[in-house]
Amino acid sequence: MNSSGPRRTLTDPFGRTVKSLRMSITNRCNLNCIYCHNEGDHGSTGEMTVETIANIVKAAAEFGVDRLKISGGEPLIRKDLEEILSALPPLKDVSLTTNGTLLRGRARSLKEAGLDRVNVSLDTLDPGKFRMITNCKRDILPIVLEGIDEAVEAGLTPVKINMVLLKDINEAEIEKMLKFTKGYNGNVILQLIELMNFRDTAPYHVDADLVEEELLQHATDVTTRTMHHRKKYFINGAEVEFVRPVDNTEFCANCNRLRVTADGKLKPCLLVNDNLIDVSHASPDELPGLLQFAVSKRVPFYGHDTYRQEK
Ligand code: 5AD
Repeated sequence: MNSSGPRRTLTDPFGRTVKSLRMSITNRCNLNCIYCHNEGDHGSTGEMTVETIANIVKAAAEFGVDRLKISGGEPLIRKDLEEILSALPPLKDVSLTTNGTLLRGRARSLKEAGLDRVNVSLDTLDPGKFRMITNCKRDILPIVLEGIDEAVEAGLTPVKINMVLLKDINEAEIEKMLKFTKGYNGNVILQLIELMNFRDTAPYHVDADLVEEELLQHATDVTTRTMHHRKKYFINGAEVEFVRPVDNTEFCANCNRLRVTADGKLKPCLLVNDNLIDVSHASPDELPGLLQFAVSKRVPFYGHDTYRQEK
């Protein structure tokens, strides 16, 4: 055995090496956000067992995939999430994308089970707008905020706030949100996200160039992450990242993730549904070959002519 790291990698025909898994563990959700892409899921209801999840992550880790993002639906709906976390192999980074409504009272046990950090979806600090965006009649924004506090206290940091920009709804709230995150002294980072049109939400789309110009005007420093070529702005001591997935060739060219659907299918791209590979019943012996096969099917969604012609 070679102890200096994995000998094999999962590299696709476009030279992109997969470094991270984005795994949905349930499609169930207690909210119904107006823009939600459901992780590009195909409407399945099945859910992987703890063992299947651990086997997939272990097989990927053998190829040097050492980052895992757990998502949903709302992943905290699964009561066995701590069990899932405990069954994982050692990884560099294990994070969770959550709507935060079920985080309160659970942040510590998640941390103890091996979770490194959380991303909390929070588009607004206005209770009425929160209810409108999430289609939730109850006033649960305070519970989400308490969940964020607990996540910070438990050390699930940096907590990233995912704020999807929505025209005429929250686009004027960036400054307020920056102030909110700044209050956590570097433990909470704001991540602005350009809306992708999944549910006829085109009228809510905000021009990303304009937002970027605005951020640039206020920034004291700007850096670019390799991951998706994301820009990071530093404004008055707060950190803001901007994720621009729409019509962005750089975004796809730098994509290093492979998705797994809640029912156990490898999914090479959020926006493509005709190349899923079912691994829900695969044995540990079969998984490496299936991972390689799925990665051989990865095609950059934006900026690849062959793909455009085939569509
Ligand atoms: N456009 C952009 N981002 C989205 N998300 C969900 N739906 C969309 C969409 N249509 C992101 C949000 C949420 C995470 C789970 O997925 O950032 O926090």
